[in-house]
Amino acid sequence: MDFKALANKYQTPLYVYDLDYMSSQYEKLKLAFKGRKSILAYAVKANSNLSVIKHFADLGSGADCVSIGEVRRAILAGVAPYKILFSGVGKKDVEIREAIELDILYINVESEAELGRVELIAKELGKISRISIRVNPNIDPKTHPYISTGLHDNKFGVEISTAKRMYIKAKNSEYLDPVGIHFHIGSQLTELKPIYEASEIVADMLRSLQAIDIELKFFDIGGGLGIKYDDETTIEPYDYAQAILGTLKGLDITVICEPGRFLTANAGYFLTKVLYEKQNGAKRFTVVDGAMNDLLRPSLYNAFHKIEVISDAKSAFSKADVVGPVCESGDFLAKDCELPLLEHNDLLVVHSAGAYGFGMGSNYNTRGRSAEVAIENGQDRLIRQRESFEDLIALEKDLVK
Ligand code: LLP
Repeated sequence: MDFKALANKYQTPLYVYDLDYMSSQYEKLKLAFKGRKSILAYAVKANSNLSVIKHFADLGSGADCVSIGEVRRAILAGVAPYKILFSGVGKKDVEIREAIELDILYINVESEAELGRVELIAKELGKISRISIRVNPNIDPKTHPYISTGLHDNKFGVEISTAKRMYIKAKNSEYLDPVGIHFHIGSQLTELKPIYEASEIVADMLRSLQAIDIELKFFDIGGGLGIKYDDETTIEPYDYAQAILGTLKGLDITVICEPGRFLTANAGYFLTKVLYEKQNGAKRFTVVDGAMNDLLRPSLYNAFHKIEVISDAKSAFSKADVVGPVCESGDFLAKDCELPLLEHNDLLVVHSAGAYGFGMGSNYNTRGRSAEVAIENGQDRLIRQRESFEDLIALEKDLVK
């Protein structure tokens, strides 16, 4: 990929996504589940650019959404409503209402109180709402605590005993149709055992529901498949699928998987230009034009992203913190990164930026968010314009007294 040409054409900071890589990741995972009915429901939160969602929709993907905004994006991008799931612990009434009216595949319910709201709203609408219940299997996924979700300490899902009560209530309701069961123990998972254990617990639950005549159609395993940011050992899609399918022996059920990071992370690059080198005592800083408002993961999770240097610099390498212009000491893209002394306008390419990159961006410090560019079949095209100052003040400028 000619990063230099892209940076010159579209300016920096800039997100670049390789759509062909996304396709190959999608096909790899889809293939792993062959022999079973399966739906890959792309987790829109990982990268919610309309062109990215459309790319997956064109491949046959569904969408896993966590707000009605994401549901609307998915529909706008061409995802069939019958392949859309709506998850999340805090759905508002208006969101539930719209999801039911749109006739999406199902709402993933995360509490008894929410089930009550869904039933009430379906009744008001005179409709039957398809639901699935998110079970919290109390399994430690061995990942970063901020992205671990399958322990009782986390806010997600309900305990098995509660879930059972909820299924019985749903089964007996005129307005609810329980069609699925869901779990998601965390993100960036690199160990198979916790996934297998969680799947076993939830499959057992499924069997015990069958015993009381509650027949579900969908076994929703969430997302979470990890990727290589550095030299992590990752799980092969085939092994992942086998581990899960192994727990479903004898069950006629469609598997739904909600991958986000696996499909998009390593398809994405964040391009940023060097502004200055500076030295504070013994500490070297390379100041660039991209910041935590563009790519938050290093600041929020201390996450590592590989940095590639595009420069003619020939000096010796030394350790530098790569920092942005935002007024926070926590504004960094990398710490103690071995870099040659860089010149103004040299280019840094931050890897693995296709998931939870742009989407977690903000306008902090009145910085417009970056442009986004897609590469497909060797051709580049703009898929989101760079935000201008006018965009940033549009919703307030007429309200100043
Ligand atoms: N399904 C559910 C219910 C989820 O909560 C998530 C992610 C996914 C699927 C997709 O997970 P993935 O396949 O991408 O691991 N901002 C964090 C990640 C937060 C993940 C939230 N839930 C990060 O940058 O690492």
